[in-house]
Amino acid sequence: MLTNNQEFYKICFDNSREGIIVIDEFGKILLANSRVEKIFGYKPEELINESVSILLPKSIKQKHEQFLAGYYDKPFNRNDFDKRDLYGIHKNGQKVEVLIGLNYFQLDEKNYVKAFISDISDYKKKEQVIRNKNYQLEQELKIKNKELKAKNKQLREANIVLLEEINNKIAAEKKAKIALEKEIELNNLKTKFISLASHEFRTPLSGILTSVTLIDKHQKNNTIEKIEKHVNQIKTMVNHLNNILYDFLALEQLSNSNITYRYKTFNPFELINKIIEETKSILKKNQQINYSSHNSNKEIINDYTIISIIITNLLYNAIKYSHEDSIIEIDSKIKEDKLIVSIKDYGIGIPKEDQKHIFERFFRAKNAMEIQGTGIGLNIIKGHIDGLGGSISFKSKENVGTEFSFEVPNFSIK
Ligand SMILES: Nc1ncnc2c1ncn2[C@@H]1O[C@H](COP(=O)(O)OP(=O)(O)OP(=O)(O)O)[C@@H](O)[C@H]1O
Ligand SMILES: [Mg+2]
Repeated sequence: MLTNNQEFYKICFDNSREGIIVIDEFGKILLANSRVEKIFGYKPEELINESVSILLPKSIKQKHEQFLAGYYDKPFNRNDFDKRDLYGIHKNGQKVEVLIGLNYFQLDEKNYVKAFISDISDYKKKEQVIRNKNYQLEQELKIKNKELKAKNKQLREANIVLLEEINNKIAAEKKAKIALEKEIELNNLKTKFISLASHEFRTPLSGILTSVTLIDKHQKNNTIEKIEKHVNQIKTMVNHLNNILYDFLALEQLSNSNITYRYKTFNPFELINKIIEETKSILKKNQQINYSSHNSNKEIINDYTIISIIITNLLYNAIKYSHEDSIIEIDSKIKEDKLIVSIKDYGIGIPKEDQKHIFERFFRAKNAMEIQGTGIGLNIIKGHIDGLGGSISFKSKENVGTEFSFEVPNFSIK
C-alpha cells in the first residue's frame, strides 16, 4: 500500500518547497529534509542529533531555549509565517533571512515540533531594491516638490508685481482721465467766460463811453449837473465791472481751494440788518424786505465776511429776479449748533428743468437771460457753504417765487 511505502514519504518530505526539521522537546534535531541543506548549507545527516540552536544566531540562542522550555507547557501551532524579520545562520556563518511556521504534535506521549522554513533572502533583496527605489522616488518627489514650491513662490511674486503694475496703470489712467476732464472743463469755462465777458462787459463799457462822450459835450456847454450825473453813471458801471472781476477772483480762489476761513464772534441778526440797509439802494419800486429773526440777541462764531457774501448774493438775486411792488421775506434762527437763514421772493421763479443746474458755474436759467448776471453768484456761495461744512437748498416754481435756505455751523458749540 502506498501509505506504507517509506520511500514515498521520504520523497514527499524531501520534495517540499520549504525546509522541514523535526525537533524533540529538548531542541534536538531528529529529522531534516534535503531542502534544509539549500537554506543552511548542512547536509540533513549533519544536523541529526544536533541542537536546533546550531541554526540560530548567537543573539537569540538563549531566548530560544527559554521559548522552547515554555512551548511544551502551552504548545501552539504557528501556521502563518511570522511577519517579523527572522534569520538563521548558514553553515558558512552568513545570516539567512527566513520565515518559520511551527507544528506541534505528540507521539507515544512525547512532544515534537515540526518547523517549516522558507528562505526569503531573495525576496528580501528584491524588497530592499524596491524599498531603495521607493526611497529614491520619494527623494526625487521631494526635490520636485521643492522646485514646484519655489516656482509657485516665483509665480506668486510675479503675480504681485503684475498686480502692482496693473494697479499703477489704472491709477495713472485715472489720473490722466481726471487731468483730461479738468482740462476739458477748463476749456469749457474759458469759452463760457469769453462769451460772458464779451457780453457782460460790453454794456457797461459802451455806457461808460457814452457818458464820457456826453461829459465832453456838456463840458463844452458848461452844464455841471449833467456832467455830475454821467460821472456817477460811470462810477456805477465801473463798480459793476469791478464786482464781476471780484466774483471771478473768488471763483479762482474757491477752485484752487486756497481760501482760509477766519472765524469770529458776531450777531447774525445785526449782520442781516446791515445787509438789508445796504441793499435798499437797489430795491425796485415799492419792493419791500420783511425780516423776522427768532433769537436776535444770540451770537455765533463763523466767518463774518463769507456769511455776509452768502446772504448778500441771495438777497440780490431775490431783488433782481422779482418784480416791483413785491415782498421779500428773510427769516433767521440759531438752532443748536447751526445758523439757519432763508430768503423768499415772489418773483419769476426757476423753471423746473433748469433747477438741477442752478449751482453750476456760469449757469443761468432760460427765463433770466434778459436780466443782467454772470451765473457765478450761486456757484460761489455753494463753494463757501460746502467749505464751512454747511448746506444749501431751494424751492422754486416758475412765475410764483423762490425760497433759498442755508445753514452753517455755529462753531461756538463744540
Ligand atoms: N431768486 C431767484 N429767482 C429766480 N431765479 C433765480 C433766483 N436766484 C437765482 N436764480 C437763477 O439762478 C441763476 C444763477 O444765479 P446766480 O446768482 O449764480 O447768477 P446770476 O444772478 O445770473 O449772476 P451773478 O453772478 O451776477 O449773481 C440765475 O441766472 C437765475 O436764472
Ligand atoms: Mg446772482
